Amino acid sequence: MPTSAPPALDPAQLHLEVDDGVATIWIDQADQRVNTISEETLDALEAAIDVVEGRADVRAVVFISGKDDSFIAGADLDMLRGFDTPADVEAVIRRAHALIDRVQHSTKPTVAAINGAAMGGGLEMTLGCTYRIASTHDKTKMALPEVQLGLLPGGGGTQYLPRLVGLQQAFQMMLTGKNVYPRKAKRIGLVDALIHPPGLHRAAVTAARQLADGTLSPERQPRSLTERLLESNPYSRKIVYDKALERAEQEGKGNYPAPARIVACVKTGMEEGLEAGLQREAELFSELVFTPESKALVSLFFAKQQGDKNPHAADALPVRTLGMLGAGLMGAGIAQISAANGIDVQLKDQDFTQAATGREQIWKSLSKEVSKGIRSTFERDVVLERVRPIGDYEALASADVVIEAVPENLELKRAVLSDVEAVVRPDCVIASNTSALPIAEIAEEAQHPERFIGMHYFSPVPKMPLLEIITTEHTNQATLATAYAAGLKQGKTVIVVNDGPGFYTTRILALYMNEALLLLEEGASFTEVDDAMEQFGFPMGPFELFDLVGIDVGAKITEVMEERMLDDHFSISHTAKRLADRGLAGQKTKKGFYTYAGEGTKLEKDEPNKDIYQHVPGRGSTSLAPSMVQERLALMMVNQAVRCLDEGILQSATDGDLGAVFGLGYPPFQGGPFRYVDQTGAASIVGRLKQLTRQYGPRFTPADSLRTHAENDTTYHG
Ligand code: NAI
Repeated sequence: MPTSAPPALDPAQLHLEVDDGVATIWIDQADQRVNTISEETLDALEAAIDVVEGRADVRAVVFISGKDDSFIAGADLDMLRGFDTPADVEAVIRRAHALIDRVQHSTKPTVAAINGAAMGGGLEMTLGCTYRIASTHDKTKMALPEVQLGLLPGGGGTQYLPRLVGLQQAFQMMLTGKNVYPRKAKRIGLVDALIHPPGLHRAAVTAARQLADGTLSPERQPRSLTERLLESNPYSRKIVYDKALERAEQEGKGNYPAPARIVACVKTGMEEGLEAGLQREAELFSELVFTPESKALVSLFFAKQQGDKNPHAADALPVRTLGMLGAGLMGAGIAQISAANGIDVQLKDQDFTQAATGREQIWKSLSKEVSKGIRSTFERDVVLERVRPIGDYEALASADVVIEAVPENLELKRAVLSDVEAVVRPDCVIASNTSALPIAEIAEEAQHPERFIGMHYFSPVPKMPLLEIITTEHTNQATLATAYAAGLKQGKTVIVVNDGPGFYTTRILALYMNEALLLLEEGASFTEVDDAMEQFGFPMGPFELFDLVGIDVGAKITEVMEERMLDDHFSISHTAKRLADRGLAGQKTKKGFYTYAGEGTKLEKDEPNKDIYQHVPGRGSTSLAPSMVQERLALMMVNQAVRCLDEGILQSATDGDLGAVFGLGYPPFQGGPFRYVDQTGAASIVGRLKQLTRQYGPRFTPADSLRTHAENDTTYHG
């Protein structure tokens, strides 16, 4: 009888295969679409390492995922939410550290074979391995995205990553959370080799064997001289820490607690040694888990996961072919993300030539992705092949979904959609990407209003994650289900709202922008207003946003909203129209609230356009405290969001949070307007709105459910 039995492997986590001296640990969590790291995973990996360490016939080890297109998606966030105290978190973090340490100091060489996403803890786990090899699959990407959840890489990332790729690359990855794609990963030394996906396991086993034989040693590109000089002594490293901190503070406006702590962990580790760095990492990570900012960001993450599942999937028809009407800014963008996700696109504009021009725009946009290493030229060409410019409507006969993105004109939209209805299959979904017109009005003359729906995308389409689907009282279940499926296939996070002027996102944005114009008319300086809102956490202020979307577009939206929705209480500014009529449209005319230099995608903001003050009653002479500006603008948006929920435009507070953050850039660290109310307390919001009502009028009257929550001391998110 053996004195101690080998540790049992957990088949719900992983399985082990040994072939000619090389053990492969297949991480493949049962009943899960992707692998994540939980305490059970740590148990299973520890046991697997015990086994391979103990087996004399194993000379080297490969870690690989059993999932088709993902390695390990990161830590299990449910586990994080379940912790009660920082000490509980710290204990698990220290276990993860111990695991990496064991892998790193194993007598048997280890190889991580990465196919698909290796995120957060998944990537950190590979950092202890002797060698990393990644597939060139278009789903393969690596990132330490914890900062986006208000956290820091707590699985050793702040220590092992800078040691592997250098301080500057490590800060770039950890402070932005951005994905690194295979070619770049190889270039910066994050992985040692690349291989086409089918050959990954075999290549990893071969590398493991060669490492054990001593015939392969990882060859890492020496970093540039400047990089080495900068990172070689504490004085120059201090410059790197200070710069990283300064950039992070500038970008986050001091609203995010994680970046400064990331820099602190790296600094401790580099200046005082690995163990001190790991200890600091464990402490600061555990602290961050309990901050309101991280809680808000994690709640958004879960809300997004919910929006990424189609609750109507059973009724959805397959989406293989999209008919795209309008090949302008939005149409080309929608066509691009569709083709990039395997949907064939028939692209129509006013004539064939304009449709072909739209296709050229898509080529340019995809080529940019090629230059960033996101896709290969071959992949670009495959995607582009799926976009077919067409000259007449007949070609739409095979479409599963048709989306129109022609200019914002009710008659034009009705006319093109009537032409579409005449040629498409009876089960084809017909959608409008209008930014504000009620869908029911567009579908008023339709023969089959039940298949009409709104699919509202945000500019720039390839970047903005949200799709707002708008249903009318006539829209049927199959239409909703198929539109939802199309959005998910395009890679979007979906919310579904009810019809109305501006639906949800445009309505709350329009009234926020209107309030900014009213401030301007009262004499506020538009640059001060922009600064205040950036400080609040928006990616840009309202006036810069006006320039981006077009002051003329803003004026048009005001017109739609004014005609259709507003009660007498609302003061509507007509400044946008006045400016647009004078040719001040924003970026497209290179002059709006700011002037712009350069061309096309190289357009850059130049300076504030003081001439604006000639066209508004105020003269930019009144200096307002930033807090006053923030109070008026933010509470206008929050109160409107709540009204949308009260009126049934929104189906849930969670949708309201997702829509505001992912569609409009509402400060993510607040989690969205509803989470903001919950964290601040409805009573306080009601009190502040009442004060604003006294000062500025009844447009600030608190929404009904805010009062109810204030009276009962309850919250939107329970
Ligand atoms: P755009 O002016 O860039 O593109 C419109 C395209 O439609 C042009 O290429 C034009 O030639 C084409 N077009 C005109 N008449 C047509 C017809 N009869 N048949 C086929 N094509 C025709 O405009 P953009 O910005 O793409 O906007 C399109 C729609 O998307 C509008 O309803 C707008 O309100 C909405 N939208 C715009 C957003 C933005 O940020 N620009 C955001 C969300 C929605």
